[in-house]
Amino acid sequence: MEQSIFKIIKQAGQMMLDAKLDSLDTHSKTNFRDVVTDYDIKIQQFLKEELLKICSDALFIGEESDSNPKNYYKKAFIVDPIDGTANFTFGYRHSCCSIAYVEDDKVIMGAVYNPYMDELFSAKKGEGAKLNGKPIKVMDGNLKDGIVIFGTSPYSTSATETTFKLAKATYEASMDVRRTGSAALDLCYVAAGRNILYFEGNLAPWDYAAAAFILEEAGGVYSDWNEAPMTLRDKTSIVGANPKAYKEWLKLKDSVLKSN
Ligand code: IPD
Ligand code: CA
Ligand code: CA
Repeated sequence: MEQSIFKIIKQAGQMMLDAKLDSLDTHSKTNFRDVVTDYDIKIQQFLKEELLKICSDALFIGEESDSNPKNYYKKAFIVDPIDGTANFTFGYRHSCCSIAYVEDDKVIMGAVYNPYMDELFSAKKGEGAKLNGKPIKVMDGNLKDGIVIFGTSPYSTSATETTFKLAKATYEASMDVRRTGSAALDLCYVAAGRNILYFEGNLAPWDYAAAAFILEEAGGVYSDWNEAPMTLRDKTSIVGANPKAYKEWLKLKDSVLKSN
């Protein structure tokens, strides 16, 4: 199954590379920041067709139109056809395709592919995480030892105030901060030791299902901001890092939110 998923995700990546950006059919969903293009829809259709050929009894959950979760996933694919759609529309070349395979309500395989860099992040339960087939690990250390990457939850304006307060406090406690526009790649960058920690105030299952699993297999931990496990269903906050930096950030978050 793993090799078939890799083949499919790379084909999806090629569709992103081949996209004619000057004639994209783009419209907004929940607010003016939340855009969808014909490629999001086309790629999701392609993924649905191809993934269900490998496992026809799996449920298919995707951001565009197949987004209804179930109480229990016996077998499921949770996919984001393009994570980083805003980047994609502007030719920013930092977006990816994300596929998680779930059995008995747990992710057991994850793949995230950035076609612009030809980087395939992947993990299989108990086998560690890889980047283009080579093992990756989270970086050790505290916030001050690395660069934090965060998301602005652009589709949920209620998170804005808290996000930017936390970004300032996190910037002061770390080497620097980044905002790149793809939550799945953010989590994979922490998994690969490029960033020390990632946080975002509001994220959907298709954004994190594969990448958070990859982070865990790379030695990281993640949860929502109250340390509750992610459910693969609701939209929640998220923080992920090595165990030490994760705890440090949660403490920092408590002190920032208390002083609100
Ligand atoms: C979004 C990106 C973005 C994050 C948002 C996500 P989309 O996904 O991952 O970085 O801040 O919360 O919804 O809409 O580009 O697939
Ligand atoms: Ca997404
Ligand atoms: Ca998307």
